[in-house]
Amino acid sequence: MPPSIPLNSLTQTEAFGLFLGQTAQTGDIFLLRGDLGAGKTTLTQSIGVGLKVPPSCYITSPTFSLLHEYPGRLNLYHFDLYRLEDEDEIAELGFEEIFYGDGISIVEWPDRLGSFTPPDRFEITLTIIGSDSRLATISAFGSKAKTSRFNSLELTL
Ligand SMILES: Nc1ncnc2c1ncn2[C@@H]1O[C@H](COP(=O)(O)OP(=O)(O)OP(=O)(O)O)[C@@H](O)[C@H]1O
Ligand SMILES: [Mg+2]
Repeated sequence: MPPSIPLNSLTQTEAFGLFLGQTAQTGDIFLLRGDLGAGKTTLTQSIGVGLKVPPSCYITSPTFSLLHEYPGRLNLYHFDLYRLEDEDEIAELGFEEIFYGDGISIVEWPDRLGSFTPPDRFEITLTIIGSDSRLATISAFGSKAKTSRFNSLELTL
């Protein structure tokens, strides 16, 4: 069973994101799943805080571009693939250099990656429980599953 973390308020989501950003390592890829409004961008903003992305670089949903890049302790590459029409566009983004480079990547709507889904990754699913409550589950794949990171995640949020 992947660890589940109840996020009963925005503050708890912020604390979770902060933790993820503070502990993120070079080459980490986080695929964020969840319905519209589940909190993927909100979580990304808090991961940015944990990565020390400067407050002047406000993380938004990349509405017209599929990718935004932010400086921080590690560079943050934020993909929002909601509007992706076909896989070729991903290749055009130069995603391989980014995924396998030295920053960290966060991908909203990762189903759109199809065959480009990276083998080594964390997947976080956000489920809407109520107006201010979400449930997060984290799973690790590939080499990320070999370490114990997040396997016994006990967070005091
Ligand atoms: N516990 C919570 N965690 C995250 N977001 C919350 C929580 N409670 C309320 N919200 C609100 O839910 C909304 C989440 O919107 P957000 O844009 O982050 O979702 P999203 O998953 O990125 O959606 P989209 O698929 O449209 O990109 C925000 O308005 C946020 O304030
Ligand atoms: Mg979003």
